[in-house]
Amino acid sequence: MKVTVVGAGNVGATCANVLAHRDFLQEVVLLDIKEGTAEGKALDMWQQAPIDYYSTKTLGVTNDYARTANSDVVVITSGLPRKPGMSRDDLISTNANIVKSVTENINKYSPDAIIIVVSNPLDVMTYCAFLAAKKDSNKVFGMAGILDTARYRAFLADEIGCSPKDIQAILMGGHGDTMVPLPRYTTVGGIPVTELVAGDKLEAIIQRTKVGGGEIVNLLGTSAWYAPGAAAAQMVEAILKDEKRIFPCCAWLTGEYGLKDIYLGVPVVLGKNGIEKIIELQLNDDEKALLSTSANHVKEVMDVLDNMKVVSA
Ligand code: NAI
Ligand code: 2OP
Repeated sequence: MKVTVVGAGNVGATCANVLAHRDFLQEVVLLDIKEGTAEGKALDMWQQAPIDYYSTKTLGVTNDYARTANSDVVVITSGLPRKPGMSRDDLISTNANIVKSVTENINKYSPDAIIIVVSNPLDVMTYCAFLAAKKDSNKVFGMAGILDTARYRAFLADEIGCSPKDIQAILMGGHGDTMVPLPRYTTVGGIPVTELVAGDKLEAIIQRTKVGGGEIVNLLGTSAWYAPGAAAAQMVEAILKDEKRIFPCCAWLTGEYGLKDIYLGVPVVLGKNGIEKIIELQLNDDEKALLSTSANHVKEVMDVLDNMKVVSA
């Protein structure tokens, strides 16, 4: 099995490195537009193989899509990261042009590949890749929910003083400040979170989760990469091992949750066909209202993309 990661920056290189360590792929191709970057990082990873005991071959290329041919999954991380004070939406024009051209190149050499988008603004870049790829929506989707849920779980683990492994949670909506954490669907070793964390503390954690990306941008001067890269790798693994794992992913909705023609974070089943099922939770009125606000925000940015006519519907 072969995976291509486009963009050999912080997130792309981390994703490739996590995948290599998982040791279930024949090859990971890392592609970047910057001469030498992907080659250097892929070579470094290959030299890590004898130390960390994996056989996955890592290959770096500069814009040479022929070397990505017949990839089973492609992860798109190319684009500019968010800088301090910059919203994800500010990135739309530059990153849409990048995502469009990358998707078209990928399509030429790996027409059957499943595409996972990571570039921001996430929900809209996923829509952009979907329009450019012209393939079924179960094969084009985005990574954000695993990362946002992981942040929520990590904060909860700190508060409770337990392992993050024992926290199960789901989070919906767009990848931005309007995301919708769902305490009603959060458990800690099977125990409802509300029995372990006081309401005000839980609310503070939810608020921190919503701005979790920005917290790291403010600390680092650029956006996060360890957790994002690992999250994208987890999706690749679920697909190629046909694990049928349930994750929140940015998926194309066709009436689910009363929403259609929109990419939004929802719980899905991931397996060899990509998104094999969208799970519809019975949301209460408050949760529905939050999801609707989030969907409206995402739709506005999708409209911006439509109006730019970077890629036609
Ligand atoms: P980075 O700047 O470290 O890496 C981006 C790479 O893309 C650079 O190496 C650049 O040369 C490359 N690139 C630019 N145009 C290209 C093209 N046309 N073809 C191939 N490569 C190209 O940025 P980082 O931190 O890796 O972030 C990547 C993207 O992921 C950003 O848009 C960022 O906002 C987003 N992101 C999304 C997350 C999510 O949860 N969905 C989480 C973290 C980051
Ligand atoms: C993050 O959430 C910026 O989307 C990026 O870390």
